Amino acid sequence: MKYRILEELKASNGQVVSGEEISRKLGISRTAVWKHISKLRSEGYTIESQTNSGYKLVGSPDILSASELEPLLHTVFMGRNVIYLDSTDSTNTYAKKAAEEPFKEGTVIIADEQTAGRGRLGRHWVATKGKGIWMSIILKPDILPSDAPKLTIAAALAVVKALSSCCQLDTRVKWPNDIVSGGKKLCGILTEMSAEADEIKYVIVGIGINANMEVCDFGPEVSNTATSISIESGKTFSRKAVAASVLYEFEELYKAFVEEGSIRHFLDEYKRKSAVLGKEIRVISKKEEIIGRAVDISREGQLVVKLADGSVREIMSGEVSVRGLYGYI
Ligand code: BTN
Repeated sequence: MKYRILEELKASNGQVVSGEEISRKLGISRTAVWKHISKLRSEGYTIESQTNSGYKLVGSPDILSASELEPLLHTVFMGRNVIYLDSTDSTNTYAKKAAEEPFKEGTVIIADEQTAGRGRLGRHWVATKGKGIWMSIILKPDILPSDAPKLTIAAALAVVKALSSCCQLDTRVKWPNDIVSGGKKLCGILTEMSAEADEIKYVIVGIGINANMEVCDFGPEVSNTATSISIESGKTFSRKAVAASVLYEFEELYKAFVEEGSIRHFLDEYKRKSAVLGKEIRVISKKEEIIGRAVDISREGQLVVKLADGSVREIMSGEVSVRGLYGYI
């Protein structure tokens, strides 16, 4: 009900709406209207009360709820169903449970805070309250399970494009899934899948963007290697505008990928935004450690590495370190 009241206030475009009118329209008492208005205020909405005339919405908080995100969306299906949580352990974990039930493709789980955010390789992901965009998108692409890692390529490029258009930030992708700026990590992507034989049941693309995190928010383990939009740009950006832009860019790339069954449409753009191509790198995978020069990214999304002996290897997955970046090697 409180969000119905919010809709009424928003629809009035900054004009006063009488408590009487809201109570009549929504079929609740004026006292109930007043209680819901108080709750909205406690969530950060600035609502002026005008004696004998009513309520006026004069400011909205930068939260990523459905009602705040929806007016900014330019998507067809991504983010059209939002589950917003004040706090959760991990939006990917929540999304996996949600995807076990019938779901709408493009459903997004967004939390203001994660208490047990998950990164790749079982690492912890710091997700401070109110400071980032912690979201997981539930998808059911008609592709082979073996092609699912290409979604990470699409999501990473989507974030780079959104940060450029929304925040004028020139970021790069450290293959396959880190978005870096100034040599530090600003965003990570965790793609998880459930599949049977050759059919995908669902894919969860979890995106964590350090939007307005400050150095002190990161904690000692990552404070030397992590950064945020606000640290890099010196400005605070609206999280909802950035999230809406990421969803738009991702939907465009996702559609192209699923329709074509290939990443070739945006592979060149991804390569131009690469933080690793042409660099001396070290890749640590489950099986081995490779040192060489990153020379290409294949149509399959693999990293092509030329070793010192002149041989060429195509890497499917692994942890890449770039000489000079993060002070590695
Ligand atoms: C990584 O770089 O290791 C991946 C980090 C992914 C973090 C995001 S935040 C939203 C979603 N929920 C999680 O628990 N993890 C992802």
